[in-house]
Amino acid sequence: METYKKIIEDIYLELKNVDDIGKVANYIPELGNVNDKNFGIHITTIDKNSFGIGDHEKKFSIQSISKILSLTLAYKLEGEALWDRVDVEPSGNPFNSLQQLESDKGIPRNPFINAGAIVISDILVGHFKNPKEDFLSFCKGISNNPTLNYSEKVAQSEKKTGFRNKALCNFIKSFGNIKNDTEKVLDFYFHMCSLRMSCKDLSEIFLYLADDNFLCQKGKRILTESQAKRINAIMLTCGFYDESGEFAFRVGLPGKSGVGGGIVAIHPDKFCITVWSPKLNVKGNSYKGMLFLEKFTSKTESSIF
Ligand code: DON
Repeated sequence: METYKKIIEDIYLELKNVDDIGKVANYIPELGNVNDKNFGIHITTIDKNSFGIGDHEKKFSIQSISKILSLTLAYKLEGEALWDRVDVEPSGNPFNSLQQLESDKGIPRNPFINAGAIVISDILVGHFKNPKEDFLSFCKGISNNPTLNYSEKVAQSEKKTGFRNKALCNFIKSFGNIKNDTEKVLDFYFHMCSLRMSCKDLSEIFLYLADDNFLCQKGKRILTESQAKRINAIMLTCGFYDESGEFAFRVGLPGKSGVGGGIVAIHPDKFCITVWSPKLNVKGNSYKGMLFLEKFTSKTESSIF
């Protein structure tokens, strides 16, 4: 941990005041109210050592990072049958694209683009009587954090403006790949994306993807080794939408971004690291977050390649 700590401190100081050419997402109006100077990093290793710097304990909107948690729960419930409803191929398109659904007959390319995460939401809505409550308790059961919660403000803000997601959900329903009421599915999806966590919370909750022996608070495994390997594989190939290749090329770890400016990256068998900096590049991924992780894996030689 001492080596990681020194390197994280050095890169943090180097990047803290660099000119950030990114832009805060404001297509969900409530996200535009964040202080764009926030910058935090937290790492947790599989032997439970941890280190954080900057705004690493401030909670922010995790947005698409939540798609890893919904995928995890749906995979536990459905097993391999899940892949009949959503594919595992990179889309090469923006996260909110409708384009490929027509020729792909309503089967989204992967669970991390919005289309795929909406199908996963449908699966969870179909499984639970109170999907929002049950999903939240699932997340609390993995993390050490009883304060974990949705932001009603962010969820309502997205509900008012989420016309593309509404279009996606209705379009997929026209192919029969949404089974439940679209309002219910979207309400779940908007709440899921509104989850608030800090870099510290995130680097702890996703340890189950780094540590084959991870047990939740109740002493149970979250996923089988094979399932965890597969989710890491989808993160590596699809976690950054049409910038997934670039992230693998520059950083070399499975990861997932969100339009709140967070990025989670996993080193299987070593650690989970999270960076938060709200200004996004044109592909919707944190500008400084990517830069930080590129420098971090280069200096620590911790890319998986
Ligand atoms: O559906 C949306 O557009 C947002 N709730 C989540 C998008 C997102 O985080 C994409 N990530 N980089």
